Amino acid sequence: MERRSFLKNAAVAAPFLGQAFGASDELRIAQIGLGTRGAYELEVCQRTKGAKVLAVADVYQPLVDKYVAASNGTLTGYQDFRRVLDRKDIDAVFVSTPDHWHAPIAMLACQAGKDVFCEKPLSHTLHEGQQMVAAARKYNRVFQTGSQQRSATHFQKVVELIHAGTIGKITCIECWNEENDTPEGAGNPPDTTPPQGLDWDMYLGAAPKVAYNRNRYIWHYRWFWDYSGGMMTDWGAHHMDIIQWAMKVDGPLSATAVGGRFCLKDNCQTPDTLMTVFEYPGFIVRYSVRQGNSRRIEGRPNGIAFYGTDGTLIVDRGSWEIIPENASRFPNDYDRVEAWLKGGNVAWPAGFDRNAKVAAKPRCQAMGETGLKIDPACQEAHVDNFLACIHSRQRPAADVEIGHHSISACHVGTIAYRLGRKVKWDAAAQTFPGDAEARAMMTKKYRAGFALPAV
Ligand SMILES: NC(=O)c1ccc[n+]([C@@H]2O[C@H](COP(=O)([O-])OP(=O)(O)OC[C@H]3O[C@@H](n4cnc5c(N)ncnc54)[C@H](O)[C@@H]3O)[C@@H](O)[C@H]2O)c1
Repeated sequence: MERRSFLKNAAVAAPFLGQAFGASDELRIAQIGLGTRGAYELEVCQRTKGAKVLAVADVYQPLVDKYVAASNGTLTGYQDFRRVLDRKDIDAVFVSTPDHWHAPIAMLACQAGKDVFCEKPLSHTLHEGQQMVAAARKYNRVFQTGSQQRSATHFQKVVELIHAGTIGKITCIECWNEENDTPEGAGNPPDTTPPQGLDWDMYLGAAPKVAYNRNRYIWHYRWFWDYSGGMMTDWGAHHMDIIQWAMKVDGPLSATAVGGRFCLKDNCQTPDTLMTVFEYPGFIVRYSVRQGNSRRIEGRPNGIAFYGTDGTLIVDRGSWEIIPENASRFPNDYDRVEAWLKGGNVAWPAGFDRNAKVAAKPRCQAMGETGLKIDPACQEAHVDNFLACIHSRQRPAADVEIGHHSISACHVGTIAYRLGRKVKWDAAAQTFPGDAEARAMMTKKYRAGFALPAV
């Protein structure tokens, strides 16, 4: 009897990933990448109960020195992340480098027996995402994608409401990022020698060897294809993650995308204006990116709107609301149209006054919240979830496979944009069926010495 109920419980629980820690064990952490996000993650980890940050790594030595100096001797610093992976006393790594380094670092960390928290967008290519999932599974690692919105209570609430059918059948979803970065965008800094203490060759990694340019390095690397995928993967990773979660799907059936770098006069590459339409079974998603005009959609600079037959649900990081649809003004007019087709009068049903003011009859309940804050609470919850899963060996809230599916949609959109045509995607088979040209874009060329680790 006992054995049967154990098996029953085991069947519904998330898969067990091997290795067990005592619940009281303090987890030993390393932070890789100390830029905008990495510095924040380091700060969160340093004040998280049950975690002890022992090491930091960044290709820019002055950043490493800065955090080591401020640590009262608690941190050891490295310029080469591989020295972190060599350490036997590190349980888990946080990877907050630009996107082109996520897969190599995360996969080597899995091989080295570390659990991994890797920033979104999980991968730089579809193939890398597939390999990251394979590595996490092969080496039995707990692997959290840094899609912290999954751990925000209000995103959890809206997903629950959608799952409960609150706004009816959703046939159309819009998500957007609208801002005005004109005219210069990231500007046009000249190529120079790299700053003192920056290992530029290591920064470039698998990407082609090019001269140092400030825009290719800190923050603006996002707008270069060799290191990232522009807004489509940067913010799209968050939007598509919530959309696919809410709609219980793993990927689109197809994508079409048009746009260009039309207005920003800088040396970056990814489109500043982009419309991508994804087709899913029974609904469509449009992602609108404008970096040349900040007029808000649904009153928000970024967000997601789910349009359902009974209401509209709009959510962003600071608020959510449901705006009900009203019951149709007209009674079912099948009989009236039938009569008209037979040559009768276009008569309204008896007693129906088409000019009368009709009291709104909401099809669902209006509700919502404003003034919410996504950080730090949800980042802390996301880190806590990761640490708890390291102990329990369960799969975390944004398990690598979830992160892979979310960013896959964005990569499919980007491939449609770069090919200038519609592409069909098979999320279950993880391929572009019958489309060798699109399939060739699932991976990239790796510079000698920086091949993706084999799984
Ligand atoms: N979850 C979120 O909401 C969120 C927010 C911001 C950024 N991010 C993600 O975090 C990642 C980093 O973004 P950012 O804005 O902090 O970039 P950033 O340019 O500010 O910092 C990147 C840092 O990584 C370092 N680096 C580069 N290659 C390295 C390597 N091989 N080894 C060690 N260090 C290396 C750089 O020197 C730099 O300090 C990106 O993938 C980004 O999408 C996520």
